[in-house]
Amino acid sequence: MEERILIFDTTLRDGEQSPGATMNQHEKLQLARQLEKLGVDIIEAGFPASSEGDQAGVRAIAREIKNARVVGLARSLAEDIETAWRSVEPARLPGIHTFIATSDIHLKYKLRMSREEVVERAGQAVRLARSLSDWVEFSCEDATRSDPDFICRVIQTAIDEGAGTINIPDTVGYSYPEEISKLITTIRENVVGIGNAIISVHCHNDLGLAVANSLAAIRAGARQVECTINGIGERAGNAALEEIAMILKTRTEAFGFYTGIVSEQIFHTSRLVTSITGISVQPNKAIVGANAFAHESGIHQDGIIKERTTYEIMNPESVGISKSSLVLGKHSGRHAFRERIKDLGYSLTEDELNLTFKRFKDLADHKKSIFDEDIEAIIAEEVLRANETYKLISVTIMSGTHVVPTATVRMEIEGKECHGAELGNGPVDATYNTILQLTGRRPNLLRFAVSAITGGTDALGEVTIRLEEKGKVAVGKGAHEDILVAAAKAMVNALNRLHYLSEVPKPSVRL
Ligand code: KIV
Ligand code: ZN
Repeated sequence: MEERILIFDTTLRDGEQSPGATMNQHEKLQLARQLEKLGVDIIEAGFPASSEGDQAGVRAIAREIKNARVVGLARSLAEDIETAWRSVEPARLPGIHTFIATSDIHLKYKLRMSREEVVERAGQAVRLARSLSDWVEFSCEDATRSDPDFICRVIQTAIDEGAGTINIPDTVGYSYPEEISKLITTIRENVVGIGNAIISVHCHNDLGLAVANSLAAIRAGARQVECTINGIGERAGNAALEEIAMILKTRTEAFGFYTGIVSEQIFHTSRLVTSITGISVQPNKAIVGANAFAHESGIHQDGIIKERTTYEIMNPESVGISKSSLVLGKHSGRHAFRERIKDLGYSLTEDELNLTFKRFKDLADHKKSIFDEDIEAIIAEEVLRANETYKLISVTIMSGTHVVPTATVRMEIEGKECHGAELGNGPVDATYNTILQLTGRRPNLLRFAVSAITGGTDALGEVTIRLEEKGKVAVGKGAHEDILVAAAKAMVNALNRLHYLSEVPKPSVRL
C-alpha cells in the first residue's frame, strides 16, 4: 500500500528569498490560488514578523485559501509567533512554523546562546504556538551541521510541548543522501513520541542535492517535503516541487509513495512563478524547462514517432504541457479568448478579462498568430502588475546613425501624470535616463537581457532586467512587439519592485 507524502510549498516564503524575487500582495494571492489548484497540502505564505507587507500578504491568503493549510513562519520569539498567528488565524486550516538554529556555528556566532538556552527557547516557542494553534511545526535550523544528540534533545522538547511536525532543514545544502538518511533514522530511534509526529525535510540546493536528499529523507521516514516551484529559494534554491512530485509519480513502483499534486497543473504553476518573479527557468531544467520534452537527434525523433515511450519517461500532457498549441489570431473572438485563458489555468474577473482582451486585440492587429506565451505576457502586465506606483503611459524614441538618441517618456507616478525627455548613448540608455529622471531613483543596472517570447520577426520581444539600489535587488520584465518599449516596461516593472521593497522593508529579521 502506497503512503502519502505531504507537500509543503514554501515558494511564497523561502522562494521569495531568491535575490530579486519580490512579489507584491496581488501576485502572492494569485500564486497561492494556483498552489491550491496544484494540490499542495501546506502553503507557507510568508514570514509575518519580517514586515507589515508580509503580514498583509499572509492574511489575504489566509482569508481566501480553503483547501490547503496556510502557515506563517516565526522565529522562536513570542512576538514573531503572535504576529504569525494573527496573520494566519482567518484561514480554514491555519498553522505556525517556528524555528531556532541548533548548530554550534549558529549558536556561537548568530544566536550567541548556549545549548541550554536554545532548548529552553525552543520549548517556550512551541508551548506558546500550541496555545494559539492546533497545528505547529518546529524546525531545527542548520540541522545537518548540528550535533545529532543535541538535535534529538531539542526535538524531544518540541514534541513534549506538542509540536505535531518536526522539520529537519539542510539549511546550507551541505548534506548528502546517506547522511541525511542517517540523521532521520537517529531521530526516529531516539526521540520518544516521534512516531506520533510527522517528520519533514527542507533541503537547499547548494551542492545540487536538494531533491536527492529529500528523497533519501523520505525513504528514511520523512512524510513531508518542503519545496518550491522551479526550485527557487535562498542562494541556489530549494528542492524543486515539480521534480519531487514527478519522481514519486513516475517511479511509484520504486518508492511506494504518492502526493496530492495535480500534476497537470505543474507547467502552468511554473510559468506563473517565472512570470511573477522574473526568474526564468533554465532550458534544460527537469520537468518544466523548455527542452524537457524536446527531442533533437534524428534517432530520438524517429524512436518517438514509432513509439513515444522509447525516449519519453513521462507524457508531457501529464505535467500540463498541451500538445495542441491552439493558436489565436485577429479573428478570434472573446469566447475563444476566454476559453484559452481558462485552459491556461487563470481565473480572471470580468474587468481583468476586458483589459486583457483589449491588449490581445491590439497585439493581434500586428501579429499573425498569438501563442499561449503571448497571452501569459499580457496577463502578467495587465493583471498581475496592476495598481503599481509607477505606470508607463507612452515612450517615443529617436535613434539612428546620425542622431543623438533621445527618449520622451510620459508616466503616471502615484496617480499624477508627468513627462520628460533625456539623451543617452543609445535608445535604451536615453529611455532609462528619462525614466530615472522622472522617478528620481538611482539604481544600478546589473543585467539586461532580450529574448523573443515566440518565434518569427513579429514575435513579442521580452526584456528582463535586474536592478540594485541601496543593497536591494529587483528583477523587472517587459514584453512588447517593439523591444525598446519592452525595455521601458521592464525598467518600470523593476522600479515598482524596488519601490515595494523600500516601502515594505525586511529589516534585521531576514533569515
Ligand atoms: O533553510 C532553513 O533552514 C529554513 C528554515 C526557516 C526552515 O528556511
Ligand atoms: Zn530554507
